[in-house]
Amino acid sequence: MAWKANPEIIRKMSQEYKRFNANYDEKLVPQYKLPEVLVCIDGTRVTNKDIWIEKRRKEIYELFKKFMYGRAPVNKPDNMTFELIDHKENVLGCNAIRKVVRISYEGKIKGCANVLIYLPDSNKPCPIFLILNFNGNHAVINDAEIDLTPVWNFQLRKKIIPEEKTRGTNSSRYPVQRIIERGYGFATCYYGDIVPDFADCYEYGVFGAFDYLFGEKRPPDAWGAIGGWAWFLSRIQDYFEKDNDIDSKKTIVLGHSRLGKTALWAGAQDERFSIVISNDSGCGGAALSRRKYGETIEIINTAFPHWFCDNFKKFNNRENELPIDQHMLIALVAPRPVYIASADEDLWADPLGEFLSAKNAEPVYKLFGLEGLPVDDIPDLDTPCMGTIGYHIRTGKHDLTTYDWERFMDFADKHLNR
Ligand code: GCU
Repeated sequence: MAWKANPEIIRKMSQEYKRFNANYDEKLVPQYKLPEVLVCIDGTRVTNKDIWIEKRRKEIYELFKKFMYGRAPVNKPDNMTFELIDHKENVLGCNAIRKVVRISYEGKIKGCANVLIYLPDSNKPCPIFLILNFNGNHAVINDAEIDLTPVWNFQLRKKIIPEEKTRGTNSSRYPVQRIIERGYGFATCYYGDIVPDFADCYEYGVFGAFDYLFGEKRPPDAWGAIGGWAWFLSRIQDYFEKDNDIDSKKTIVLGHSRLGKTALWAGAQDERFSIVISNDSGCGGAALSRRKYGETIEIINTAFPHWFCDNFKKFNNRENELPIDQHMLIALVAPRPVYIASADEDLWADPLGEFLSAKNAEPVYKLFGLEGLPVDDIPDLDTPCMGTIGYHIRTGKHDLTTYDWERFMDFADKHLNR
């Protein structure tokens, strides 16, 4: 049986998001036609993977940079450094190894971010899950030895040292012991150390350091915050390539919500990420924009004007004029495995739109002779399906839960032959 939004949740969500005038009625979803993933701008049909790789993929990638996420002014800065500032064995009561690596960069200003890593104590390099976090590394896990490094107070536009009692406050989202037990490494970094998440963020973090490379003025296709966060995920991957305890050919990049949008964009851009996972990423992530169900382009650009490039604002309420939709973002990940997860109560993120996006990326996987998403309709609750594209819709709210992680690890086991 196919999942359907629960009428009671529709009622609740319509109430909660009234001020945005968001649509939750499937009957009011506009008629739309998705841009063809397999037809090039000049009309050429993509009939094999070579035309995809040589031509169409490049076009789509360029369109996402130009109109949506923007472009970074620098690839990998020459003066970036990695410093191991903590290294301890036998932690977490499960024989894990903890490392903290400080990544420092310098452009117009200097900046740095600490990557917190836990690895299983094994004799061989391990595959690793890489995820940015919202509230600081200390909030990810209750580990008294993690430094309480400053986090942003968005109201005050200032960084402050977090209180001791905030240690581990988000730990339900990061089942680190379980991840280690299943043989995977876990790496995380505070997103605010990359770009602070408020509208006037441009003088800070990687924007403050590298935007001067654009010249006098930020162009309308300069990277937005999602672009900045995604760029840094690649810088963390640069580090993984230097760490012999990590199998950097098996990095699984994932993220929740705005950081799920980020993980998809990072995975689309950097082919070193071997598996890409989006959890409840919604509008500007996995969900099709043209459905205008729940959050829309106009709503997101108004509430978060710094997330995307300036050009994206031209498409407020004009989703049909965009030459791309989000199935094409997922298609950019091909032929690598990609997993999209939704939640029953997370109608703001449009679960059906997320599913349809995954399904409509399938033709590109087929070009590679791969199985796409092995179901035609959105599956029932808590019934994961896993081809080279995977999908589930979980019972419950907008969140990242142990259920989600277990499925992500099942998916990784399948594709990494574990
Ligand atoms: C808001 C926003 C979403 C986003 C979410 C989050 O709800 O509208 O687009 O995914 O925040 O990141 O938690």
